[in-house]
Amino acid sequence: MFDRLQRKWKVSGIQLFLILCTFAIGGSLTGFVGKRIMNLLPLEKGVFWVIVYIILVTLIWPLMVLLVSVFFGQFTFFTKYLRKMGARMGISKNPASSQQKVAIFASGAGSNAQKIIDHFRGSATVRISLIACNKPGAGVLQIAEKEGIPVLLIEKERFFRADAYTSELTAAGIDFVVLAGFLWKIPTALINAYRGRIINIHPALLPNYGGKGMYGQFVHAAVIAAGDKESGITIHYVDEQYDHGATIFQARCPVLPSDTPETLAARIHALEHEYFPKTIESLLENEKVKSKK
Ligand code: GRF
Repeated sequence: MFDRLQRKWKVSGIQLFLILCTFAIGGSLTGFVGKRIMNLLPLEKGVFWVIVYIILVTLIWPLMVLLVSVFFGQFTFFTKYLRKMGARMGISKNPASSQQKVAIFASGAGSNAQKIIDHFRGSATVRISLIACNKPGAGVLQIAEKEGIPVLLIEKERFFRADAYTSELTAAGIDFVVLAGFLWKIPTALINAYRGRIINIHPALLPNYGGKGMYGQFVHAAVIAAGDKESGITIHYVDEQYDHGATIFQARCPVLPSDTPETLAARIHALEHEYFPKTIESLLENEKVKSKK
């Protein structure tokens, strides 16, 4: 039960303990203060007394837990918790409903996915809501588990021949799709559902070294074999062709005479980690501006 709560609230064991203490003490304090106030009111004990008491404790309980949460260092958790409860009761707006939900599609180690998750951790406006992956056992799945992010395991047949999982994505409220090391071509059904809202990162300066078969070390080996002095990263919109949609951002780095595909890959990865999360953030900011107009 405690494990489930920890996962649900995304808190450590110690924090869970402090939260439960806050609930317990806040609850007792509510009962105590509630009775004191009732004693001051000129009411006979009876059904009406019980109704007033229930209304009173419902009103003072949030105040009491908030007060106690300060002493246990859990004020931020409880303000969020109470806001969520308020939203469920239709009193306030759900904070999660105003967040833009992002799905990351990845099938590799997931170092970019991790950087993106880290970048948006605790963000009030963006939430990494889903990791989609076509490779059981991929490193990115362990990241998803550690971070408590739901996973969508993609099967070839359904991805290419049926609805490309668009129903799952829309049901999860996904607003934006980020490809971070996802090797399959994106089917038209998915592109149509998210046109202008799917981006990819490619580890070279497109339009060079893109297309089918150009991924991972193959890209870096080709750059080195061509004797290029420069390589880099390209973040671009996704369309029906591999590595083809409009470029959003590029960053460059030198290719050294001593480079191997591995050393060049490390330099490129550093660029990706630095710029991919920031680029996603600025795109989502613009999206928001657009949807507000
Ligand atoms: C990155 O180099 C990216 O450019 C390419 O796939 C790689 C994914 O790496 N599309 P990681 O799994 O994020 O470490």
